[in-house]
Amino acid sequence: MDVRLPIGALFTILGVVLASFGAARNEALYAQSLGININLEWGLVMLGFGLVMVVLGSRRSFQKVESSPASKSHSKPRQNENSSSYGAGATVKAADLRELFLTTYGTTPRIYRAPGRVNLIGEHTDYNDGFVMPAAIELYVWIAIAPRQDSKLCVHSLNFSETAEIDLHVGPPSPHGHWSDYVFGVAVALVRRGHQLRGANLLVHGEVPIGAGLSSSAAIEVACGLALVGLSGSPLHPVELAKICRRAENEYVGARVGIMDQFVSCCGRAGDVLMLDCRSLDYRLVPLPPGIELVICNTMVKHEHASGEYNRRREQCEEGVRLLSPWLPHVRALRDVTPAELDQYSTRLPHDIFQRCRHVVTENARVISAAAALERGDLPTFRDLMRESHRSLQMDYQVSCEELDQMVEIAAKQPGVFGSRMTGGGFGGCTINLVDTAAVPKFREAVSLEYQQATGIVSEILVSHAAEGASKVQE
Ligand code: GLA
Repeated sequence: MDVRLPIGALFTILGVVLASFGAARNEALYAQSLGININLEWGLVMLGFGLVMVVLGSRRSFQKVESSPASKSHSKPRQNENSSSYGAGATVKAADLRELFLTTYGTTPRIYRAPGRVNLIGEHTDYNDGFVMPAAIELYVWIAIAPRQDSKLCVHSLNFSETAEIDLHVGPPSPHGHWSDYVFGVAVALVRRGHQLRGANLLVHGEVPIGAGLSSSAAIEVACGLALVGLSGSPLHPVELAKICRRAENEYVGARVGIMDQFVSCCGRAGDVLMLDCRSLDYRLVPLPPGIELVICNTMVKHEHASGEYNRRREQCEEGVRLLSPWLPHVRALRDVTPAELDQYSTRLPHDIFQRCRHVVTENARVISAAAALERGDLPTFRDLMRESHRSLQMDYQVSCEELDQMVEIAAKQPGVFGSRMTGGGFGGCTINLVDTAAVPKFREAVSLEYQQATGIVSEILVSHAAEGASKVQE
C-alpha cells in the first residue's frame, strides 16, 4: 500500500476534527492569533493536505508498472514473492469484479473466465505430438474488460495490485518476466494473426494457484484472448484461440510448452476428460465415472525454476528424434516411435536421451490404454497405469521431486483411491488423485496429516469436478 494513503487519512481525520472545533468556536480549544481562527484555518489546511495525499496515494497503484531490466532468459515470468497464488481463498466473483471495475474505470465491463486444468495421464507427451488426458477444473482466471477511447491496453491485476499498459499502435514491449507478459503476449499473437484489437481496460483476478502445475498461465492467456476478441467483435474458434495462446507462450513468454493446457482451458467439458491427440488436435470426451472425485493435492513446492529444465527435456526429445532418424526415417516426432523400435535402437542413443524417449514412447501407449480403461469403467487398470506413469516421470523423465513422490506414495495406499500421480510439468506442484466420493473426507485428513509428518509441509487439498472451458460469464 502507498504510504501516502494512511498519512492522508490521518490528516483528513485530524483536519475534520480541528475544523469542526474551530467552526464551533469551542472556547477550550479555540485559539486566536493576529485575528485568525487558528483551529478552523489549520483544520482546513490539514483536511486539504490529507485529501491530496489520499488522492495521490490511491492513484499510484494505477500508474504504469516500471519495466524491470528486460530479461533475455527463456524462462517463465517470475512469481509474486508475496503471494503463493493468484488468489488463495479468493472470493471475488463476477458481481464483485463488475463492481470493482466500475469504481476503478468508471464503466461497466463484460466478464470472461478460463479454467486451470489437471492432467490425468499423458505427461510431457504433448510437445512430442502425442496423447494427453486433461480435464478443466473449477478454478478460474477472471477478466473484466471494457473499451477505451485510445489504443492502449491497460491491465490491472488484483492479485499483484499492479497495473501495466501498452499502446497497441506502438507495438509490443520486450517481455520482462512479469505477469503482464502473458496478457501482452496474447495481444501480440492475436494482432499477428490479423485480429484488429481495440484499446481496453482490463481487471484480472486469478484463483488458479501459481507454480502449482495447474496451468495458471494458460488460464490467464485464454481468458485474456477471449476477452480481447470478444471486445473486438471478431469470432474465434476455441481451437484457434488455444493455438494463438500457445504461440504467445512459446514465442513471447519463451516457454516451449505444448498445446495441452491452452487446449483444455478452451475446450474442456463439464464432467468429462479430453482424450486429445496433440498432432491432429482431434479429441474425444471421456466421461469420468460417477462417484469418483478429482482430488488435487498441492505439495506446496513451487516449480519456479522448472522452465529451464522443461525446455531442456524438450530439446532432449528432439535430439532423440534426430538420432533415430537414420534408422527410422518416417519418424517426425517421438509419437511415431513404437516401444519395439525404441528397444531395437536403444544402443544408438546416449543413456539419458534413451530414458527421455522411453518415457514418452511408453507414456503414449499408457494414455491410449487408460482412455480405453476409463471408457469401460475399468478403474483398477486405470490405477495401475497412473502408477506406472508416475514412476516413469520419476525415473526416466526425471521431473518429479521428493515431495511429489511422498505425496503419491501416501495417497496411493489410502482406501478408495483409483490412481495417484504428479500432474503438469513437475519439479513440484500438485498430484492428481481419483478418489471414491465416500472416501474423500478420510482421504483428505489422512493425506494432509501423513504428508506433514513426512515433510513438515502443510499441504492444500482441493476437490474439483471436471469443468467447462473458457466462456463469457452471463450477466
Ligand atoms: C506444462 C506444459 C504442457 C505440458 C505439461 C507436461 O504444463 O504447459 O504443455 O507439456 O507441462 O505434460
